[in-house]
This record gives sequence, C-alpha cells and structure tokens, in this order.
Amino acid sequence: MVWITLLANLFVAWFLAVADATTLPLPITKIGCQDKCGNVSIPYPFGVGDDPNCYGEAKFKLVCNTKFDPPLLFMERDERVSTPIIDISLLQGQLTILLWISRQCHTINGTFTNDWFYLWLNLKDDYKVSNIRNKFIAIGCDTQAILMDTSGKSFQTGCISYCTDVKSVINGSCTGIGCCETAIPKGVNSINISFASYYNHSKSWNFSRCSYAFLADIQWFKFYVSDLWDFPNRVEYNHIYPDNGQNLPAPPVVVDWGIGNLTCKEALQANQTKVDACGRNTNCSDSENAPGYHCLCKQGFEGNPYLLDGCKDVDECADPEKNSCVAICSNTEGSYNCSCPSGYYGNGVNATKGGSGCTPFKKDFPLTQLILGTSFGVLFVLIGSSVVFCAFQKRKLMKLREKFFQQNGGMFLQQQLSSHDRLVDTIKIFTSEELKKATDNYNERRILGRGGYGTVYKGILSDDRVVAIKKSKVIDKAQIEQFINEVLILSQINHRNVVKLLGCCLETEVPLLVYEYITNGTLHHHIHNQKHKNSFSWRKRLIIASETAGALAYLHSAASQPIIHRDVKSTNILLDENYTAKVSDFGASRLVAFDQTQLSTLVQGTMGYLDPEYLHTSLLTDKSDVYSFGVVLVELLTARKVLSLEQPEEQRNLAMYFVSSMKENRLMELLDERIVQEEDLEEIHEVASLARRCLRVNGEERPTMKEVAMELEGLRVSKKHAWMEQDHEETTHLLGEMPIPALETNPSNTSFNQVTMSILDAGR
Ligand SMILES: *[C@@H]1O[C@H](CO)[C@@H](O)[C@H](O)[C@H]1NC(C)=O
Ligand SMILES: *[C@@H]1O[C@H](CO)[C@@H](O)[C@H](O)[C@H]1NC(C)=O
Ligand SMILES: *[C@@H]1O[C@H](CO)[C@@H](O)[C@H](O)[C@H]1NC(C)=O
Ligand SMILES: *[C@@H]1O[C@H](CO)[C@@H](O)[C@H](O)[C@H]1NC(C)=O
Ligand SMILES: *[C@@H]1O[C@H](CO)[C@@H](O)[C@H](O)[C@H]1NC(C)=O
Ligand SMILES: *[C@@H]1O[C@H](CO)[C@@H](O)[C@H](O)[C@H]1NC(C)=O
Ligand SMILES: *[C@@H]1O[C@H](CO)[C@@H](O)[C@H](O)[C@H]1NC(C)=O
Ligand SMILES: *[C@@H]1O[C@H](CO)[C@@H](O)[C@H](O)[C@H]1NC(C)=O
Ligand SMILES: *[C@@H]1O[C@H](CO)[C@@H](O)[C@H](O)[C@H]1NC(C)=O
Ligand SMILES: *[C@@H]1O[C@H](CO)[C@@H](O)[C@H](O)[C@H]1NC(C)=O
Ligand SMILES: *[C@@H]1O[C@H](CO)[C@@H](O)[C@H](O)[C@H]1NC(C)=O
Repeated sequence: MVWITLLANLFVAWFLAVADATTLPLPITKIGCQDKCGNVSIPYPFGVGDDPNCYGEAKFKLVCNTKFDPPLLFMERDERVSTPIIDISLLQGQLTILLWISRQCHTINGTFTNDWFYLWLNLKDDYKVSNIRNKFIAIGCDTQAILMDTSGKSFQTGCISYCTDVKSVINGSCTGIGCCETAIPKGVNSINISFASYYNHSKSWNFSRCSYAFLADIQWFKFYVSDLWDFPNRVEYNHIYPDNGQNLPAPPVVVDWGIGNLTCKEALQANQTKVDACGRNTNCSDSENAPGYHCLCKQGFEGNPYLLDGCKDVDECADPEKNSCVAICSNTEGSYNCSCPSGYYGNGVNATKGGSGCTPFKKDFPLTQLILGTSFGVLFVLIGSSVVFCAFQKRKLMKLREKFFQQNGGMFLQQQLSSHDRLVDTIKIFTSEELKKATDNYNERRILGRGGYGTVYKGILSDDRVVAIKKSKVIDKAQIEQFINEVLILSQINHRNVVKLLGCCLETEVPLLVYEYITNGTLHHHIHNQKHKNSFSWRKRLIIASETAGALAYLHSAASQPIIHRDVKSTNILLDENYTAKVSDFGASRLVAFDQTQLSTLVQGTMGYLDPEYLHTSLLTDKSDVYSFGVVLVELLTARKVLSLEQPEEQRNLAMYFVSSMKENRLMELLDERIVQEEDLEEIHEVASLARRCLRVNGEERPTMKEVAMELEGLRVSKKHAWMEQDHEETTHLLGEMPIPALETNPSNTSFNQVTMSILDAGR
C-alpha cells in the first residue's frame, strides 16, 4: 500500500463559487413539457398544451394563451370565464388566482349609482377556495356584505362594517369599523356576493359612499384608513371582468387542489403497490379541503414529488445550515453522516446539537502531527461548512461540468494544447466520468492519502493502468492561468526520478490530477519502518539520495522555467519496486496560490525540513530545497525522526542536533547502526559532510542542488574518481574558512532558534 502523504503545510481559504453550483434548479415538468406561462412556473401535474403526457389529470390542464400572459383557470358555469393563476405551489397543494372585487355605490341621496360590479366564482368541483388562507372582507362605513354559494342554499355568511367618523377607524385593523372580515367555510367552490345597508350611505361624510366586498389571501390583505376613500386603486392586481370588459381590481385568492378523489389510504388500497401519482422517495398526505391527496418529498429530499424521480437527495453537506457536522460530513441518500478525521475521536456531530464533536487523541502526539492535526481540524471545519466534493458527482449535469471546465481554465488549456502540438500526447484531459469510474466513485477504500492539497485516490483506468488521482482543493480563480501553466510544465517533465503527471480533469468543481502509481511506499516508510530493518542497505540509500538530488537539480535548472519543490521530505520521495526514487508532489506546491499576505501567518513547508532562512525572509528559494534535502540526507544517515518531542531539548530538531554533533566530532553516535556495521565509513563521512553544508543557515553558503547531485553521483559511481578528489579538496577548503554560525554555539541568541523553540513550546 502506498501512502502518498500530502501534508497540510499550505492552506488556501476556499469559500468560493460553491454556492452557485448548489442552486442548480431541479426539473419541475416532464421532459419536453412547457414549464412556464408568462412568468408563472407550471410544475407537473399541472401542464399546458394538448400533450396528455404533460399534465397529470384533465383537471390540471391549464390554458396558456400567450407566452407573456399568466395561465388561466376556467369556471364551471361559464367556460368563457376564467381567472388568471399567478402562482402554483406543490408544497401546500395550492394555487393563487386573481378574483375581482364587488362594489356597490350610492349617491348622497341614498340612491344607487350605475357604477357597480359583483364578483362571482364558480370553480370546478376539483378546486376549493382555501378556508385557511382566505377571508371574506368588506370595506365601507354603512355596509352589510353577504357571502353565499351561487344557489344561496348551502351556506350564507357575511359581516357588517359601520362608522360615522373617520377618526374612529383604526389604521391596520379590520374589526368592524370601516372594515370587517369573516372566515369562509370549508369546501366552497361557488360564490355570490350581495350588499345591504342601513342608511343607504346617506350620512354626511366626505369619504367614499361605496361598499366593497371580496375574497382575499390574508397574507396579502391589510386594511388602511385610506381604503375608505380609494380602495380599488391600491390593489396591485387586476383582471378583465367578462361581463362588461372593464379591467377591475382583483386581489389574490388561494385555491386548494388535490390528486384524484381518493384519500391516501384508499389510493394505496386501490393499487396495492404505491400511491399512484407520487414518485419515488415521497410521502402521501390527504388534502384537507379539496378532494384527493398530496405528495411530499421525504425528509432529506427535495424537488417535484409528482415526477417519478422528482425528489432528489438534498446535499446537506453543501449547506452548513442543514448539517450539524463539525469536521467531515458525508452525504447519504436522504441524510448525511458526520465523522472525525483520523487522529480524532467522537461522532463528529456538533456538541450543541447533542453530539460529541471531534477530540484529538492525546497520547504520543508528535509535533508534526499536532500541527497537522490542527490544520486538518481547521480544514475539515471549513470543509464541513462547505461542500464535500463527492456529493457533487451525482448532481453534475453537462452544464455544470462545462462551467467548471471554463472556470478551471479548460479553454485556456485547450488553446495551449493546440498551439503546442507535441504536448497533445503528453497530457491527457480525462472526463469526470472516467475518473469517477477509475476510483469506484471516490470510494473511501481507494484513498491513498489526504493532506492540505487534497485527497489522493488509487485509480484503475479502463485500460487497466493503475494511477494515483489527486483531487485538489479549490483554486483561486486568479490562479487559473498559472495552474494551467503548471500543468503544462509538469507534463513536459520527463525525468525517471520524478513522478509523472499523466493528465488532468477540469470538468469537476476542482481540478483532478492524474499521476503514475508508485508501488513501494515512501522513503520515510522505509527508513523508519522496523520491518525493513535489514533490507535497507547503505548502498540503496546512497542511490536514492543521488537520484533524488538529480531530480531536484533537474527541476531547478533543466526545465524551461525553474521549479522549486518547496516541500522536499522523505514522505514525498516515493520508491518503486526496484527502489528507484520518484520525487512526488512538487506540482502541488506550485498549484496553490502563493499569496504573501495570505501565508504570512502560516508555515509553508514541513516543520523539521523547513529552511530556517525562510522564517526570516518568508521567501522560499532553490536553496530551501537544498536545506530540506540536507535533512533527508541526515535522515538516511541516522534513521532518526526529524522532530522528536520526547528527546532532550537540544536533540529535538534532528538537523540542529546533527550539525552540533558533527562539530563535536560525535557523528558516530548518531549514525544508524544498520549502516555503521557495513562497509565504507569514509563514504558515509563524505555524505555527512555534504549534508552539513546543505544545512547551513545562510542559504547562499549552501551548495546548489546541481553540486549536491554531482557529488552524490560521484560517490555512487566511484569515490576515487578524479573530479571527486578536486571537489573534496574544495569542500575542505571551504569548510576551513567558514566560521561556525553563531547560533550553533549559542542557540538561545538567534531568531531561528527562538522561532523553532516557541513552536516546540506550543506543541507541549
Ligand atoms: C410577472 O410579469 C408581469 C408582467 O410581465 C410583471 O408585472 C410582474 O412583476 C412579473 N412578476 C414576477 C414575480 O416576476
Ligand atoms: C340629491 O337630492 C338633492 C335635493 O335633496 C338634489 O338637489 C340632488 O340633485 C340629488 N342628487 C342626486 C345625485 O340625485
Ligand atoms: C347572485 O346574487 C344576486 C343577488 O344579489 C343575484 O341576482 C344573482 O343571480 C346571483 N348570481 C348567481 C350566479 O347566483
Ligand atoms: C396606516 O398604516 C400604514 C402602514 O402601516 C401607513 O403607511 C399609513 O400612513 C397609515 N395611515 C394613517 C392614516 O395613519
Ligand atoms: C334605502 O334605499 C331603499 C331603496 O333604495 C329604500 O327602500 C330605503 O328606505 C332607504 N333607506 C333609507 C334609510 O333611506
Ligand atoms: C374629511 O373630513 C375629516 C373630518 O371629518 C377631515 O379631517 C378630513 O381632512 C377630510 N378629508 C378630506 C379628504 O376632505
Ligand atoms: C372519483 O373519480 C372517479 C373517476 O374520476 C369517479 O368515477 C368517482 O365517482 C369519483 N368518486 C368520488 C367519490 O367523487
Ligand atoms: C399501480 O401502480 C403501478 C406503478 O405506478 C402502475 O404501473 C399500475 O398501473 C397501477 N395499477 C393500478 C390498478 O392503477
Ligand atoms: C413519511 O413517512 C414515514 C413513514 O412512512 C414517516 O416516518 C415520515 O415522518 C414521513 N415524513 C413526512 C415528511 O411526512
Ligand atoms: C456548533 O453549533 C453552534 C450553534 O449552532 C455554532 O455556533 C457552532 O459554531 C458550531 N460548532 C462548530 C464547530 O461547527
Ligand atoms: C452512516 O452512519 C450509519 C450509522 O452510524 C451507518 O449505519 C451507515 O452505514 C453510514 N452510512 C454511510 C454511507 O457511511
């Protein structure tokens, strides 16, 4: 099993354009059916047009005259009379229509004027006026309004409003003074209104001598004193009154509807298998007012429950409001699971919501892991409050993919590819489907490693090639071009000791990178794993050191644009079955935005390998790689941990301990006994002296990677080689001249030590 460890040494805040993706609208109609009339959405089972596939039952067939007008609902009594529908709600099983007001006016002498109109309503039996959402309302100061069904036989109700003086009218209160309201009975679908009055509006007042009466959605209606003068002009909706062709004010009225005419229970009995009109992942609920039932998406699903597959899983992980995870949130069908990253225990559910959160294990917690752990913690809280990538795969549509492709610089990459013909072969653009399949839908079991850059999966392509697939973290939009350039540069690197980038995929929210798969684990694993005790000879170590140095030197100089690895360490050096070294992960450090202001508070690189000069300058140079490589050499020589908290203070940082031991001629005490017993101590001493030069505090005094590589290559081929002698002399010469840096004799005096020590202190 290969652990390509990606350490959390860099992070990028990544609350980016994720929200866009989640608001992707779900389909509301069957495929090919009109889903809008005017600006009213028409969800199935409602439909317009003649295709019976587009509406659920005859009663849900609406008329859409033009693209710009709202759909119409026709009356039972007179098929020519219709009311416009301004909203259709699947959730409550309701629709909102516009229904005219009734008006009757008098002269001061008490006689009727000709200016009147009466509302009537006569809906088909399938629709009922909502008794919960609507009220019957009358406005006037000498008004009795009566509401009845068209036959006048099944019910009559009404209210009385009176006032003598506008001062007695309460603004905003419809309670009988200037305005009155009353509830309407259940199951009403036909209506007639009539008026009466005590004084025929013949009192001497200066407001309107009209009575108004109407049905209205109580969420819409509010009474103002000014309505006594001019109610009709305040109504923002209107509709042509068929009897006289006038455009009359028409308040919104909510109408209930239901599927079929059976209850849920009856419907289920009728079919045995399922409630007919409801799709998958739905519940059925009886309609309170209209005949029939309603369908609802089950908890954890959303969409149109009347379509067979209309209810889609809600990605709770995408919205911090919808989940209570503190760290890792994984979406499941209809729900989600919380968990903690490795190194933590607990159920991952926020403690304020009854969970146990995530708590780090305390025992044996080395500094690197502590830093790592906290990084992970922060990262996973970020992740928890945002989107888990996997959840996206499901809902991804072509459009979304294309968007990501554009967003990830796909167009730019394609341009580059077509202008560099020779690149076409070296880098392949994979589709998201291919990689999803290769990783068994990003199966947890395929994870090779996680880190600050992302997650690495083992993948098997359709041609049976085994690859490592890295899912990056979100990249800043401004960095896209740089990212593409990096991909192009990396794809051109063809060095036997560098892990090869095979291709990438830009169709997902974040780019995916595809690397060759290296079988034999990391160098770190081989140095520190007890099982490999006898097999890891000095010879092997020297070859690995030489190959690694060669690869880094190549990156620093040979590539068209120098590439600084920035995170050289034994975990980033992979070994194949022949112990051939493969430097990995150098691309990632360049992929991430290098923003000084963002990173000034963060440690870039891995503690123990980090160039001390960087702590002063915040600049990583090619000499930083030399320093880190020096630490790897020391690791190879000593097989000791790079940072070990359990050691006495002066021994905690391996690099510093090594340098001071060298100075005191105590190298032998440090060496890995496995190699001491072997041949060639002279060779070991030469490598130790090289390592010491790589570890100089002043970057400029360190050899270049090329010099290091040449020296190691010389040792590897034959230490008696002519140029080696010369080089060695030079080395001794330089060493003789170099004053030992002050910090090595007086550690407490230097900022390097202060910084390192304060980090160590923080770790305790
Ligand atoms: C619907 O369209 C009408 C007329 O085109 C417009 O006045 C109204 O504001 C629109 N309503 C919505 C909710 O967009
Ligand atoms: C109301 O009656 C008065 C006389 O009482 C008359 O002058 C006036 O024209 C009448 N107004 C209307 C609108 O009938
Ligand atoms: C409504 O009531 C009025 C009387 O107020 C009556 O003339 C009319 O015929 C009724 N309309 C219907 C449709 O019953
Ligand atoms: C009545 O209330 C509304 C809103 O609450 C306000 O705009 C209006 O000015 C008030 N009218 C009077 C007469 O107070
Ligand atoms: C109101 O008008 C009706 C008919 O128009 C009439 O019969 C009645 O007497 C009038 N009432 C008053 C108080 O003027
Ligand atoms: C109506 O009369 C009241 C007093 O009864 C007065 O305060 C108000 O200003 C008058 N309004 C108009 C529009 O004349
Ligand atoms: C329900 O509808 C069916 C056909 O649509 C009809 O035959 C039946 O009589 C209706 N039942 C009730 C109780 O309305
Ligand atoms: C019952 O439901 C199934 C699945 O929707 C459908 O195929 C079948 O025709 C229905 N049976 C009856 C008797 O309605
Ligand atoms: C749906 O039905 C299931 C049982 O069939 C019930 O547990 C669940 O609470 C219901 N959900 C809703 C939203 O009604
Ligand atoms: C836990 O929930 C509370 C309240 O909802 C919230 O304030 C807090 O930030 C949450 N903690 C974490 C770690 O998400
Ligand atoms: C989610 O958690 C439950 C209980 O902890 C477990 O049974 C289930 O398999 C988990 N589902 C997934 C997809 O991890």
